[in-house]
Amino acid sequence: MEFQWYPGHMTKAKRMMQENLKLIDVIIELVDARIPYSSKNPDIDGLANGKSRILLMNKYDLADPEVVKQWMDYYQEKGFFVSKVNSKKGTGVRDVQELIKKACAKKIERDRKRGILNRPIRAMIVGIPNVGKSTFINSFAKKACTKTGNKPGVTKGKQWIRLNKNTELLDTPGILWPKFDDQNVGLRLAYIGSIKDELFHIYEVCVLLISYLEEKYPGKIAAFYEISQREEASEILTEIAKRRGIVKTGGEFDLDKAARCLVDDFRAGKLGLFSLEVPEDINILK
Ligand code: G4P
Repeated sequence: MEFQWYPGHMTKAKRMMQENLKLIDVIIELVDARIPYSSKNPDIDGLANGKSRILLMNKYDLADPEVVKQWMDYYQEKGFFVSKVNSKKGTGVRDVQELIKKACAKKIERDRKRGILNRPIRAMIVGIPNVGKSTFINSFAKKACTKTGNKPGVTKGKQWIRLNKNTELLDTPGILWPKFDDQNVGLRLAYIGSIKDELFHIYEVCVLLISYLEEKYPGKIAAFYEISQREEASEILTEIAKRRGIVKTGGEFDLDKAARCLVDDFRAGKLGLFSLEVPEDINILK
């Protein structure tokens, strides 16, 4: 399976980010707490150029709490100001204001010494499509500023959002990298729905997802669908199709549809709280 695409708006977004970096004090980066490495755009490290960095582990409500903790420690050690948020419910969102202050403490102090008081902090928000950026901004701003949608690539164009007299946010379009050097990264993005489903074969992706979940979280799938435990992914999908009555017109089990169903349930967190990578994986992924 190959994931390769290069939409023009992503190149444009990168250029725009570069231009706007001069104007901002801190970069707030949202990652998906289930894949905090694979959902992090590597371009941003190169572009950041010494700016303060905040990393928000969004959708932590869907991830394995133990692994979330490991990742928070990992990024903290790398110099990020880290927090976990559930933008959908608003959990942890209020703490971000405090984190911004902490991340910009040096700049605020520098300003103060120069006699500049109460200059708003300017933050740029970045994140790959579907990571929950619009939901986070809405929640953070506590008013409808951006549209939320269920398909990648909704946030477009440039916009400044004035939160209060202390903080201004610059939203950026969701950008993904032009090419996935590591197919595992592409695969994990497909699992969580950050790559459009039309770009891959749902059955193949689902079989790999099942293998991973069975290895790391054995028995969870069988428990959720109330099916007997099976070894092979194809058998598991057949059992799900049987249980749910997912059949084609001829009466044959529809495994593609069963795969669709499992991926949707996984994305919605119905199967359990799972993380798809741990910090030790990074050496393998690199
Ligand atoms: P984007 O701007 O980064 O592209 O993403 P967006 O905010 O549109 O969010 C993508 C999906 O992720 C939305 O679901 C949104 O509700 C969900 N989401 C965002 N933050 C969180 C979170 O912290 N936890 C959970 N569980 N979900 C989150 P959707 O299915 O498109 O819409 P909806 O059915 O939830 O309204």
